Amino acid sequence: MNDISGFEISTNQLSKRIINIKIKDNTIEKLIFPFKKFDLTAIEYKPFTRFTIAKSLDDLSQNQLSPLINKIVRERNLGCFIVSAQNKNSNIDDIFLVKLSTAIAHLIGNPNHDSMAGKFYARFHVKHEDKSDSYLRKAYTNMDLHTDGTYVKETTDWLLMTKLEEKNVEGGETAMLHLDDWEYCDELFNDPIGRQNFIWGSPKSKNIDYKVEHPVFSEDKSGKPQISYIDQFPEPKNMDQGVFLQKLSDSLEESKNKIITKLPVGSILVANNYFWLHGRKPFVVNKLLSRELMRIRGKFS
Ligand SMILES: [Fe+2]
Repeated sequence: MNDISGFEISTNQLSKRIINIKIKDNTIEKLIFPFKKFDLTAIEYKPFTRFTIAKSLDDLSQNQLSPLINKIVRERNLGCFIVSAQNKNSNIDDIFLVKLSTAIAHLIGNPNHDSMAGKFYARFHVKHEDKSDSYLRKAYTNMDLHTDGTYVKETTDWLLMTKLEEKNVEGGETAMLHLDDWEYCDELFNDPIGRQNFIWGSPKSKNIDYKVEHPVFSEDKSGKPQISYIDQFPEPKNMDQGVFLQKLSDSLEESKNKIITKLPVGSILVANNYFWLHGRKPFVVNKLLSRELMRIRGKFS
């Protein structure tokens, strides 16, 4: 893939399906002014300001960035990109990253309301101690491969994850798996149980007071497999569904084709939510451990 104005484009070393997008220093300098025009309150309260900063970002690429990332995130053979600064840049802080992530999200679509945070994005910490009710903040447990939005009514076409800050972190690497690289995909996709409706609930912290029903597997327009799955939230109705979910969980975690990567602070990962699964390796125990993440999930425009 060729570079575009203000950005360096390359294939990720670990997977030909992931594209790295590095923002050049002078592009970051040029973003500071349009980003400063709106504070986070404006960004959160006035949805149109999010499109304004998205346009500023795209304009800096001579409007080449939007078509590029839209193509990557939809293309079956790719579906994932990671945006980061080409060099460590002192002008990038957490506020800048929230705005940059917001801009990228609005070039590919419209975010869903994040019920956990009560706005269009969520910021959260993973720390040594945790009293929450989901795996999201459990530092020392493997977060198994999953897709997002399994328990909500809104369509979740894509997800964006940004690493805002990290201290005293060892382990906690990001795990990614593309369905077409998964050794057991055909077997599980062709199991009729996977096409049955499952009930999906969620724990209290997610602030969703309903349950949804949908199968684990579906087909895209060309008949290729799509998955909507997370280990914690399906409520199997019977033994068949229970056994199927256990088999699915085991064969995902056993995959040798997972991509395990240590994403530096400032990385923004965007993935198609139909054929990419994501997870996290456990952290090494440290009382001072702290990682802050931001997420946005949404629909294609
Ligand atoms: Fe997730």
